Amino acid sequence: MDAQTCIRSKRDSRDYAEAPISEETLQGILQAGRMAGSSKNTQPWAFVVLREASGKSELAACGQFAQHMPSAPLVIAVVLTPDGGAFDAGRASQNMMLAAWAEGITSCPVAMHDQECAQRALGLPEGHRVAMVLAFGYPASEKSRHRGIARTPMAELVHEERW
Ligand SMILES: Cc1cc2nc3c(=O)[nH]c(=O)nc-3n(C[C@H](O)[C@H](O)[C@H](O)COP(=O)(O)O)c2cc1C
Repeated sequence: MDAQTCIRSKRDSRDYAEAPISEETLQGILQAGRMAGSSKNTQPWAFVVLREASGKSELAACGQFAQHMPSAPLVIAVVLTPDGGAFDAGRASQNMMLAAWAEGITSCPVAMHDQECAQRALGLPEGHRVAMVLAFGYPASEKSRHRGIARTPMAELVHEERW
C-alpha cells in the first residue's frame, strides 16, 4: 500500500475480528512509534502494550467512549514522560496506526477522560500521563471499518498566504 492510499483509507474502526496480531507485526508497529520525530528529539514517550482482558477492561473504565476497547486484541497506551508534549505523542500515535493499517490492521484512538484512573491502571511513575490509548485489530468487516463521515472540503480548509 503506498503512503497516499494508506493515509486516505485509514479510518478509525471500533469493530475488530478476534484474530490475534503477531509478535512480528506488533514489533513493526512499535518501531513506527519509536521512529517518530519529537521536539528536540526528546522522545518523551513510552508505550504500554496490553493484551490481557483484565488490563484492557480496567483501562477502558477510565474513558467515556471506550466501550469497544476491551474487544481489541491489542491495545497500546501512549504515555508521555514529564514535560512531554501532546504533539509528540500524536506523531508517535499516528505513525503506529498507519504502520498497522499498512498491514491491514485497523485502529482507534481512545481518550482517557479520567487521567488519574488511567495512570493508576497502568502503574505509571510520578509525573507520567496517558496521552492516548490506541486499540488495534483486524477489521470485523469492511462495512464496520468506519462511520463514513466526510472530511471538511479542501476549499474550506486551505488558505493561501493569509487567512
Ligand atoms: C484526540 C482524539 C480522541 C479520540 N477519542 C476517542 C474515544 O474516546 N473513543 C472513540 O471511539 N473514538 C475516539 N476518537 C476517534 C474519533 O472519533 C475519530 O478520529 C473521528 O471520528 C474520525 O473518524 P474516521 O477517521 O473514521 O472518520 C478520538 C480521536 C482523537 C483524535
